[in-house]
Amino acid sequence: MRLNPVLDKLTPYRAGPPVTAIQRRYGLDTVVRLSANEIPWGPFPEVIEALKRAVEGLNRYPDGSCEELRGLLAERLSVPEESFMFGNGSCELLMLLGQAFLSPSHHVVIPHPSFVMYRSIAMMNGAPFSAVHHRDLVYDLDAMLAAIRNDTSLLIVCNPDNPTGGYLEPPILRAFLDRIPEDVVVVLDEAYGEFVTSPARQESAVWLSEYPNLVILRTFSKIYGLAGLRIGYGIADRQVVQALDKVRQPFNVDSLAQIAASESLRRPERMEERRWQVAAERDRLASRLTDMGIGCRPSQANFLLVDVTDLRIPGPEAPQALLERGVLTRSGYAMDCPGWIRVTIGEVEEGDLFLAAMQELRDARGPAKMTHPVAGLSAETLSPES
Ligand SMILES: Cc1ncc(COP(=O)(O)O)c(C=O)c1O
Repeated sequence: MRLNPVLDKLTPYRAGPPVTAIQRRYGLDTVVRLSANEIPWGPFPEVIEALKRAVEGLNRYPDGSCEELRGLLAERLSVPEESFMFGNGSCELLMLLGQAFLSPSHHVVIPHPSFVMYRSIAMMNGAPFSAVHHRDLVYDLDAMLAAIRNDTSLLIVCNPDNPTGGYLEPPILRAFLDRIPEDVVVVLDEAYGEFVTSPARQESAVWLSEYPNLVILRTFSKIYGLAGLRIGYGIADRQVVQALDKVRQPFNVDSLAQIAASESLRRPERMEERRWQVAAERDRLASRLTDMGIGCRPSQANFLLVDVTDLRIPGPEAPQALLERGVLTRSGYAMDCPGWIRVTIGEVEEGDLFLAAMQELRDARGPAKMTHPVAGLSAETLSPES
């Protein structure tokens, strides 16, 4: 077999075993999944009804250009219809951007630590990349600018950032965009944009007329509760949309996903309600952690990056110790963010379980309750990278 040699550098994504397997292994009644930045609630009720009605039409291929959804978004955001592109999750759009813009002679600048897909799209396309380290867990925008080379075609910024939760306010981001050469496409990944409650928040889609090299990515996986359906969208200059049309398969977004996304957009009040519900729980967890003497980073997303260096167990063991107490989190050690874990904002009861487990790990009394991780059932393999 003559496999593409770039595959030698790639490792397959390993999804963890189901929650039931963890329950059995550790004898737990409840396991909460706070590792993948999913929202704890399902699709809006109107979306569920629309999906039920749509199932009968599944003998037909979907609309390859997502006309209805495109029209709704164009109206909502006051952006021309031709500026939208759709993907099987925003992950697919990242992959298509990689195919369209990266090659061994096209370099990409990515933040570090960050979402695993950014590095993957560089490696899949054999593209050189510069992973620019955050400074004190905040974007080092000057260093990102300095990393741009003559052969740079893409630069990626995630806002709010995964895994730190940090938010680059619009004036800072725009000043940064002003300094990027026009032939470098800036991918602004706003997977968590709907969770922002900062008064500084602005609709970034309106910046497109000023910055034709800007590509905004969004997803229905997070606040809309549609992660299982896989649908995301991008807003970009026509040239970018046309380039991606050349590399995508004709029916890349399934019909149920399109219907669910359109119906979700028709319920802005429900989305707004979720935004504030998540923010309230985010504030509650942050202040309870502070009361316990545990630090966390300011977040505008649906997760918190929590300091695990002051627990009575070594920090790298914290995700496993939490798992054994029924709480799945994402280890910062696995994301090159040592000393931290990332915890998704869930229901209040889920947050309480997390806080109780953290309190135990924080408590100075008694030996840590640790069992040895079994192969294939450790916190690392259980926590999807996202
Ligand atoms: C920063 C970031 N971008 C993009 C995605 C991909 O989302 P999806 O492919 O579900 O739209 C995620 C998922 O967790 C993410 O964290």
